[in-house]
Amino acid sequence: MATDYSDQQAELRRLAAERDAVILAHNYQRPEVQDAADFVGDSLELARKAAATPQSVILFCGVHFMAETAHILSPQKTVLMPDPRAGCPMANMVTAEGLRALKAQHPDAVVVAYVNTTAAVKAETDVCCTSSNAVEVVQRFAKDQPIIFVPDKNLGDWVERQTGRKMILWDGFCPVHADIKAADIEARKSEYPEAKVMAHPECPRAVVDLADVVTSTSGMLRYPAGDAASAYIVATETGLLHRLNQMYPDRRFVAASLRSVCPNMKLTTLDTAITALVEGLNEITVPPQIRERAARAVARMIE
Ligand code: 13P
Ligand code: SF4
Repeated sequence: MATDYSDQQAELRRLAAERDAVILAHNYQRPEVQDAADFVGDSLELARKAAATPQSVILFCGVHFMAETAHILSPQKTVLMPDPRAGCPMANMVTAEGLRALKAQHPDAVVVAYVNTTAAVKAETDVCCTSSNAVEVVQRFAKDQPIIFVPDKNLGDWVERQTGRKMILWDGFCPVHADIKAADIEARKSEYPEAKVMAHPECPRAVVDLADVVTSTSGMLRYPAGDAASAYIVATETGLLHRLNQMYPDRRFVAASLRSVCPNMKLTTLDTAITALVEGLNEITVPPQIRERAARAVARMIE
């Protein structure tokens, strides 16, 4: 029998109203957390919301770089995380020091950083991007402008192929998406021959090449609305299936791989969210000297 979360959800909603808090949740969060949030979205949508909401507190149900980005955009707000251990291994694959060393080797290059980076790396960056606007951001630069792209080599490879230009790629990757293999897609396709394949650009090239559409998490939530397939193979973190099933109850959505679970995204629970609000725990702040430099790159991304 499905667990009934309604009491905890009601308690979280009550506390949020009492503490003037908005609850933002990423598309990979646990279903019961998504259902209690004010807004659920992809990285770009959540950054925009964080900047625009009137509440003085943001309870960020996601991972650390997302909460940092919220504070970079709204330093006057209190940004809380339910579980401070929720980091992103890909974001930790590039350090400010490492990026400075690469910039020294390519002094003419601009730096485009995926939003999955620490604030210190964003401070060394010219413009940030997310999976939903990376191609557009790179296209804004002159054709002969050298570009350093950090940290995701798979997203970088996708952007290179979409834009037809070479970049200097960092060797980072998302362990969850990198683990999705072409063989997983082939196996699902033989089970569901009628299904279309939706893939996140953090997936390896062999997976992306088998996809009918390559897009961000919210791009995948929108895609079936304009498409007639009865089934979809979904190559991303399995948390996305919750809203796909809610939004399109008459279609079938199957995970490309059941291994695609981001342990960091799943650290947030209704209990830790409630405790964070009650006790004002795990406030995420970015020091002003880093924040001011990072804010320029994040503001360009939002524009
Ligand atoms: P988007 O929601 O922007 O597609 O990002 C996916 C992701 O891996 C966030 O950690
Ligand atoms: Fe980071 Fe990948 Fe988890 Fe997203 S799914 S938070 S990129 S490890």
